[in-house]
Amino acid sequence: MTDRLLRGRLLTFHREPQSGDDSDAYTYLEDAGLLIRNGIIEDTGPFETIRAKARDVVVKDHRPHLMLAGFIDTHIHFPQVQVIASWGSQLLDWLNNYTFPEETRFASQEHSQRMAEAFFDQLIAHGTTSAVAFCSVHKTSADAFFSEATRRNMRMLGGKVLMDRNAPSDLRDTVQSGYDDTKALIVDWHGKGRNGYVISPRFAITSTPEQMEMAKTLAAEHPGCHIQTHLSENKDEIAFTKELYAQARDYLDVYQSYGLLGDKTLLGHAIHLEPREIDALVETGAHPVFCPTSNLFLGSGLFDHGGLSARGIMNGIATDVGAGTSYCMLQTLNEGYKVLQLQGQSLHPLQAFHWATRGNACVLGLEHKIGTLAPGTEADIIILNSAATDAMALRMERAESLSEELFILQIMGDDRAIDEVYVNGVAQKAKA
Ligand code: GUN
Ligand code: ZN
Repeated sequence: MTDRLLRGRLLTFHREPQSGDDSDAYTYLEDAGLLIRNGIIEDTGPFETIRAKARDVVVKDHRPHLMLAGFIDTHIHFPQVQVIASWGSQLLDWLNNYTFPEETRFASQEHSQRMAEAFFDQLIAHGTTSAVAFCSVHKTSADAFFSEATRRNMRMLGGKVLMDRNAPSDLRDTVQSGYDDTKALIVDWHGKGRNGYVISPRFAITSTPEQMEMAKTLAAEHPGCHIQTHLSENKDEIAFTKELYAQARDYLDVYQSYGLLGDKTLLGHAIHLEPREIDALVETGAHPVFCPTSNLFLGSGLFDHGGLSARGIMNGIATDVGAGTSYCMLQTLNEGYKVLQLQGQSLHPLQAFHWATRGNACVLGLEHKIGTLAPGTEADIIILNSAATDAMALRMERAESLSEELFILQIMGDDRAIDEVYVNGVAQKAKA
């Protein structure tokens, strides 16, 4: 593996900034050196200091750009790369009319492989170095996802969805096949290289109580695996769930009663929550995941980040492609900012950049590995160009602080602002 000394402006977070003035929460260096050896960040500091300790290493000069930990996307659907931008409906119609038919194509190994390559190309282009992905119901899709992640040496989490009802017959597993395929995938991929398996009952509507019971067994047998599902995204979805699980106290109780809630659980959307559900999130440590572009696109509703955070709940933030409309975490933070504005809540750019990096790493319990530029962590790094477009460059002429620059990136930035991406220490864009 190539060792490298990167030079540029460096920003990394130690904890969530409480406000724009909370400068103890992060380190910002105007002329920094970041030393990578064997895929790991070995040292950071003023450039000349690091250079003196590493005379043998090739320098890559990224000045005047900003070095930041790679973005982490905590909720995305790999089989929806060709569903993104499907017109005109809300969640349940969107699933039935566009998404489910598209996902049936992932029974094909060849299609899964081609889409996996395209999916990871998009993540890299947008500066996302780790993600938590739903695959389709087919084992083939998860095999393609993990083999491509392994080939690229990316830290990836994912799992095949469990779904045994309320979907086309070629998109349903059974209690037994869902169990067997998940077990085989865990054996083949979990903890191999940088991969982690995520037990993935799609949502209450598409799993029978028997399958939920099976998911409970899987979770108990594999406490090291994360769990992901969807929660309270849309009012019709909630009403249908309550019909299907009439004995449940509320939507979240479906998952809670099957032992699926803990600090390794990710709950996509979590928009329309009842007070008891919020109490249960506090008690169990499960993580809601805010998907702003998706929630706006499907007209699902406004995520109450401020309210949940005030209860001590740690929320993730994610694209949710293909209901999400961009792979870009900058655009996700842009729309997230607006969703919070509509509720009178504020998201400072320092908090936004913390959220998409260290914050999401904390949600996953992986902050000792990814999400910061701390020595000893994996060298997943992005290089951001705040003047990537003429419009950005024009606006940057008037920027006077780091916070202003970050906000310009957040509101105006897209894949053009991602100048380079290092995965485990290896530059990805320079290779292309
Ligand atoms: N709920 C169940 N499946 C899905 C999905 O694929 N996308 C979204 N946005 N919500 C879901
Ligand atoms: Zn989703």
